[in-house]
Amino acid sequence: ESSMHGELEKLLSTIKGQEAEVSKKDFEGFKRLFHRFLQVKGPPIDWAKIHRPPEDSIQPYEKIKARGLPDGITASLNKLAVVKLNGGLGTSMGCKGPKSLISVRNENTFLDLTVQQIEHLNKTYNTDVPLVLMNSFNTDEDTKKILQKYTHHRVKIHTFNQSRYPRINKESLLPVATSMTLSGENSEAWYPPGHGDIYASFYNSGLLDKLIAEGKEYIFVSNIDNLGATVDLHILNHLISQPSNKRCEFVMEVTDKTRADVKGGTLTEYDGKLRLLEIAQVPKAHVDEFKSVTKFKIFNTNNLWISLPAIKRLHEQNAMDMEIIVNPKTLDGGLNVLQLETAVGAAIKSFDNALGINVPRSRFLPVKTTSDLLLVMSNLYRLEAGSLTMSEKREFPTTPHVKLGSSFTKVHDYLRRFESIPDMLELDHLTVSGDVTFGKQVTLKGTVIIIANHGDRIDIPAGAVLENKIVSGNLRI
Ligand code: UTP
Repeated sequence: ESSMHGELEKLLSTIKGQEAEVSKKDFEGFKRLFHRFLQVKGPPIDWAKIHRPPEDSIQPYEKIKARGLPDGITASLNKLAVVKLNGGLGTSMGCKGPKSLISVRNENTFLDLTVQQIEHLNKTYNTDVPLVLMNSFNTDEDTKKILQKYTHHRVKIHTFNQSRYPRINKESLLPVATSMTLSGENSEAWYPPGHGDIYASFYNSGLLDKLIAEGKEYIFVSNIDNLGATVDLHILNHLISQPSNKRCEFVMEVTDKTRADVKGGTLTEYDGKLRLLEIAQVPKAHVDEFKSVTKFKIFNTNNLWISLPAIKRLHEQNAMDMEIIVNPKTLDGGLNVLQLETAVGAAIKSFDNALGINVPRSRFLPVKTTSDLLLVMSNLYRLEAGSLTMSEKREFPTTPHVKLGSSFTKVHDYLRRFESIPDMLELDHLTVSGDVTFGKQVTLKGTVIIIANHGDRIDIPAGAVLENKIVSGNLRI
């Protein structure tokens, strides 16, 4: 640990001024995390102590909605700020730059849609709900450039930067960075330490205090790539209207698990508190049990409502207790490193009167792959004031299962392969693999499987209607 501190001092001595001040604060946080990492011995959780959460700790959304909305919802909205987690890049979808700047629907990016949603809210209720973006050193510059385009929208946008932590050599446990620069030999030496960093970096930025001084009481935090994460007035009202001695400081929106999302974190009771349990923390022998849809019925959507004064209090008491996620990576040169991360939802156990709310699936519409992108670009969804809702023309409320192969992974390739987005209103299942292209106005219904074998190419002609069809190499059924 002392060698680590020495190395960090050396790194800091290479910079001056404001930059040095910021990095110094980052390193304080890193040192605490590293210290905890060294102390952890053995498995961090005792499986026998994990229980299903008590009945009333996860409330159905319908119950909260049934209470209706009071006339004074404007006053409640003025106590809210919306925070989007914007530290991530679009790399997994083959894009350069911040993920939030990828176009997802009618040329609108994730960020455009977010701004439209909040602007609509502000115009409808005559409020000034601000948008706060948590950027990382990877996304800050590009995001700020784009923000100019929203100057005339009715949304005040604030940004703050999350911390920059040093990746550590897996063997020596010392930083791999040789200086504070982000380029050249140090281009892979730094990382944003997960969204759990929000508490410290929000506090350190001064924005937390500023918003509290402006009368804000809660933040609604969500992943910027979750298109279902809109401001829900019923949940807000539930929070604001509670008696002050029982104030719920943290709400985690959870939703029913299906077999497709067995890996998501779930809520459990542990030592008498609600706790987020992630798959990485589960002992190998219990992984199947963790994945079961019957024992752990719900998972975390990462839509969270958190009290601002509570964040301030817990941060100042150094009481924000989040499990460390050790993320092993191999750098381009082959060096094995570790990055220590935390997740925002893991802090739930530190807050008073924390609550889970079981929300409809529609509040969880993440776009992680081009298969997700195909769904949200299609006529399955309607776009209204920045929000996507499922088209009422679809007979079943479930979304089709779409699996596009590796020739579609990058957004650029995916777009090139669809002349226009097929009609998917009656689709249940689509699998596409190999060199496949779609002409204009194709309709897909039921189960459609299209497989071009290596060396083959399949062009689905314009106007084709494929219903319960398997199309492969040279065989058409
Ligand atoms: P990920 O893309 O990493 O999410 O980030 P995930 O695969 O759903 O998994 P979890 O939630 O990490 O388990 C989710 C959101 O958090 C932001 C990303 O930009 C994205 O909006 N994020 C992630 C940060 O802002 N900072 C980070 O350090 C990591």
